[in-house]
Amino acid sequence: MAAIYPPLKLGPLQLDGCVALAPMSGVTDVVMRKIARRFGASMVVSEMVASHQLVYGDAEAQLRAEGSGIDPHIVQLAGCQPHWMAEAARLSEASGASVIDINMGCPAKKVIGGEAGSALMRDLDHATQLIQAVLDAVSIPVTVKMRLGWDDHNRNAPELAQRAEQAGVAAVTVHGRTRNQFYKGKADWAAIRAVTDAVSIPVIVNGDCLSLSDARDMLSQSGGQGVMIGRAATGQPWLAGFIAQGLAGSDHPRFPSVEERKEAALEHYEGLLSLYGHKMGIRHARKHLAGYAEHHANPLHFSDEERLRLLTSLDPAEVRHLLIALFETSAEKVAA
Ligand SMILES: Cc1cc2nc3c(=O)[nH]c(=O)nc-3n(C[C@H](O)[C@H](O)[C@H](O)COP(=O)(O)O)c2cc1C
Repeated sequence: MAAIYPPLKLGPLQLDGCVALAPMSGVTDVVMRKIARRFGASMVVSEMVASHQLVYGDAEAQLRAEGSGIDPHIVQLAGCQPHWMAEAARLSEASGASVIDINMGCPAKKVIGGEAGSALMRDLDHATQLIQAVLDAVSIPVTVKMRLGWDDHNRNAPELAQRAEQAGVAAVTVHGRTRNQFYKGKADWAAIRAVTDAVSIPVIVNGDCLSLSDARDMLSQSGGQGVMIGRAATGQPWLAGFIAQGLAGSDHPRFPSVEERKEAALEHYEGLLSLYGHKMGIRHARKHLAGYAEHHANPLHFSDEERLRLLTSLDPAEVRHLLIALFETSAEKVAA
């Protein structure tokens, strides 16, 4: 019999399952998070928000931290100065955040340049100070997202997780790659066992989860308590919810019907146009439309030209029409 995994608890906060939608800059805005949560993702995390920008009242940072209608609302903060991180955490709590997640995993040079993201894994004393400052600033649970370490010679995620736990962090997420791997190779789920052995707080396992069977392998290889899904959710905002049902023990997890998926994709597109405005919304929508096409285009009925028009059209009416055609001609729908 397949193992059953209980819902996660982040400190006092009881979640309804153990599968998270990952924070992804430029992807997991409030529109996508709302849809993923409605389809049963146990938790959804905002795009990373630069702490000093949020404190300055920068409009883009505020949009990234937006979470109205999402419960629990988890804001991911990035930064390297305890003062800004604490201030941003305080502001987020005051604006309704239920959890603060600290980014210690981002490999991007722009972020590293400021010694934030995974660069914090090179100086655990500094990382611990930052964590402590955030914990002291808020009364909501705080979590930390990290990689295995900076490189193969410095796989210090177990030590960082231990320090985080001692400080009072409620859970950690570990992406099974080092910073120097960026996204190369395959995530090493078994290597995360060194973290789960080192702490008693929940460990959420991340990297390359594509399916329920991957999620089961991730948890059995790592000994983790939860799974986080990133890239595979683009074009499938229902994936985390589907996997959550399976890990909770459902023999027949329910996958949304083609009709439900079509409605969600249309809602997603409309939501992006209204969140970002027409021009920016069209640009933001492209990666999502590409994701929906990747998972649903039936080569017999949806041509490469239609796909190209779907991704490049500046006319929302045409995009809606093509999106409907995409789902109406998907192999599953045609076969039904
Ligand atoms: C486009 C993109 C943006 C990302 N942005 C963030 C971010 O803002 N914060 C963060 O902690 N991780 C970020 N990540 C990393 C993901 O959260 C996740 O750790 C990584 O993609 C591995 O998981 P996956 O294989 O399921 O995608 C990003 C990843 C991608 C592909």
